[in-house]
Amino acid sequence: MSTWYDQDLDRSPLADCAIAVFGYGAQGRAQARNLLDAGFNVRVALRADSSSRERAEADGLSVLSLEAAAEWADMAVMLVPDGEQPALYQSVLAPALKPGAALIFAHGYAVHHGHIRAREDLDVLMVAPLGIGEQVRATFEKGAGVPALVAVAQDGSGQAWSRVLAYAGAGGHGRAGVIETTFAEETETDLFAEQAVLVGGMSELIRNAFETLVEAGYSEEVAYFCCLHEVKLIADLIHTRGIASMRESISEVADYGAMRQGPRIIGEASRQAMRQALQEIRSGEFDRRLQEEQGAGFTILNESRVAARSHPIETVGRRLRANMPWMKEK
Ligand SMILES: NC(=O)c1ccc[n+]([C@@H]2O[C@H](COP(=O)([O-])OP(=O)(O)OC[C@H]3O[C@@H](n4cnc5c(N)ncnc54)[C@H](OP(=O)(O)O)[C@@H]3O)[C@@H](O)[C@H]2O)c1
Repeated sequence: MSTWYDQDLDRSPLADCAIAVFGYGAQGRAQARNLLDAGFNVRVALRADSSSRERAEADGLSVLSLEAAAEWADMAVMLVPDGEQPALYQSVLAPALKPGAALIFAHGYAVHHGHIRAREDLDVLMVAPLGIGEQVRATFEKGAGVPALVAVAQDGSGQAWSRVLAYAGAGGHGRAGVIETTFAEETETDLFAEQAVLVGGMSELIRNAFETLVEAGYSEEVAYFCCLHEVKLIADLIHTRGIASMRESISEVADYGAMRQGPRIIGEASRQAMRQALQEIRSGEFDRRLQEEQGAGFTILNESRVAARSHPIETVGRRLRANMPWMKEK
């Protein structure tokens, strides 16, 4: 697997390129603004009734209809939600894109799971920023960038690699590192990390620890601060220094306790559950269930979100955060 930095990334393949960014949400806004500031020929593609039109125009970007953008583009950047991409490709992009145009994704889901099977003449590329949209924009504005994963799933033009690397360079990702991957690796590892660590694992760890303390008679306020609020302090240390150095930055009492109890709490049962989650992702079982849930209008997901909102950790958290205005919710 190769890694590229700024000096290795030739942006010239984008010089005469019409770049249409489909969607103006978290990634669409960040990437379109970065391309505009870097001097590229970028336009935003939106639905006729889009509530994002005003914002895109206020940011200095030209807006086209989805159909007009599909005809105009040499590169179509798919920055609408993953579940919406197959229908957009099928109904708008497939009939209109020029021969040899490029389709760029920020996540491999729809292509890897076969929900999009692109025309053979097209390039199917991925530049997946390792950061949320706000960070993609904020780091670019500071003259830096977030790292990104790049991949080519299909090389219809024969220029796929030079195009994907040019797009990664234009977004400033080379300032942090551009790493080669595949659509399969990016999709499977991304889903696994969300499920095991970042969202699924962490939320359950925090809630279970909070409930354990409250059930034993400790106050919700104290349980909230020590099990949820302080997560950020440790996450920041891990993010900037790594796990081993974080351990050396905390007290010996904390580190000794962690050494004894951490492997009991996240032990063999958790490892087995992680293997099971990975197996469901790789076999397509997770995707089948997600498609069913999406077809049913995300009923189960929405019920679970409603239930999450009424958990005591949320009630006490909202009250405590209200007294800390610098942590104001967006
Ligand atoms: N969120 C992140 O920071 C992040 C990080 C890494 C990778 N990604 C990937 O980036 C891609 C975009 O994600 P996102 O979170 O940026 O999406 P998002 O914010 O949910 O995208 C919203 C935008 O998509 C448009 N849109 C929604 N459905 C559409 C449809 N059917 N046809 C046309 N436009 C439609 C919306 O249009 P309206 O203006 O009309 O509502 C809006 O402009 C995904 O592949 C995601 O996995 C996201």
